Amino acid sequence: MKTILAPPTEENLARAAQFIKQGQLVGMPTETVYGLAADAGNEQAVKAIFTAKGRPQDNPLIVHISSLDMLEKLAESVPETARRLAEAFWPGPLTMILPKSQQVSDTVTAGIGTVAVRFPSHPVAQRLIALSRCPIAAPSANLSGSPSPTRAEHVLRDMVGRIPMILDGGECQVGLESTVVSVSEDLVRVLRPGGITVDDLLTVASRVEVDGAVLHQLEAGRAAASPGMKYKHYAPKAQVTIVEGKLSAFYQYAAAHQESVTYCMVFDGEERNAPLPCITYGSKDDQRAQARELFDCLRRLDDLGAQTVFVRSPSREGVGLAVYNRLLRAAAFRVVSL
Ligand code: TXA
Ligand code: MG
Repeated sequence: MKTILAPPTEENLARAAQFIKQGQLVGMPTETVYGLAADAGNEQAVKAIFTAKGRPQDNPLIVHISSLDMLEKLAESVPETARRLAEAFWPGPLTMILPKSQQVSDTVTAGIGTVAVRFPSHPVAQRLIALSRCPIAAPSANLSGSPSPTRAEHVLRDMVGRIPMILDGGECQVGLESTVVSVSEDLVRVLRPGGITVDDLLTVASRVEVDGAVLHQLEAGRAAASPGMKYKHYAPKAQVTIVEGKLSAFYQYAAAHQESVTYCMVFDGEERNAPLPCITYGSKDDQRAQARELFDCLRRLDDLGAQTVFVRSPSREGVGLAVYNRLLRAAAFRVVSL
């Protein structure tokens, strides 16, 4: 199959919507990461998503909407707290887990009784959903196990020959996948941290808890509240270690433990006078910049042939929690504290 990479002109958007209506897959920019979009109501199209990504069948998909009317058809009921969250953070990088209606197929939700719903703020995503006139199932548009794509070239790299079209919306502004929450009465539980932070959620909900799987490895046999959390994710080919401590101690440790092709992933400016090759992922105090650059850095490390990578540990404040959560998975929970 030939894969077209196209700018999101009105003509190309119409063409992309045509592909969606025909049950095909389209690479779609969103404010978080690129999605692999399909008609959520088309069983064959949804199955094709799992095939194109090599995704385990038991990992449910997020359904994307472009109006609140669409929400009513997907969710059996919408708790009051969820309505308030929608009002505060939609459109935007928040996904809510809600009881699913009959209309949502078990293929989309992997047989779970709930459905994940998101209203993206990216104008191209909104336009594509509206033109397709259906809710859109879309996981991140990477091959399963690779870092999520934050640029159209990343999607092309993973999906060339597998899908007919990718809309090029440039670099994603958030750079990490949406915050996933479940809602019960006044309690909001963060299953996956993202661009909407715990503090943001606390402006709306009286109680916010971060699920244990965000910062800790699931014990064998324990069910994940969000199935995606149990898989190794976002991983470059190299062995990644997060190293906590002062910069001088960090470099000493990296130099002492380097192997054949070793890189350090450090904050902007810290690469000066480094004893080893470095790539940078945003400035130390700018968690949003770190989030935006993280996945591109992980992909670049593969291109550089890195085999061993030592990463400066980010602060877990604000969006930093999401950065740290993704790095933990890239590092398969290998953390060294100096
Ligand atoms: O920002 C995003 O959310 C991106 C863009 C494309 O919208 N999408 C995305 O999808 O990250 P995906 O499939 O890569 O991640 C969806 C996550 C997975 O961890 C999955 O297990 C979880 O959401 N999820 C989906 N449905 C769920 C449900 N009913 N209950 C619990 N977790 C669910
Ligand atoms: Mg994903």
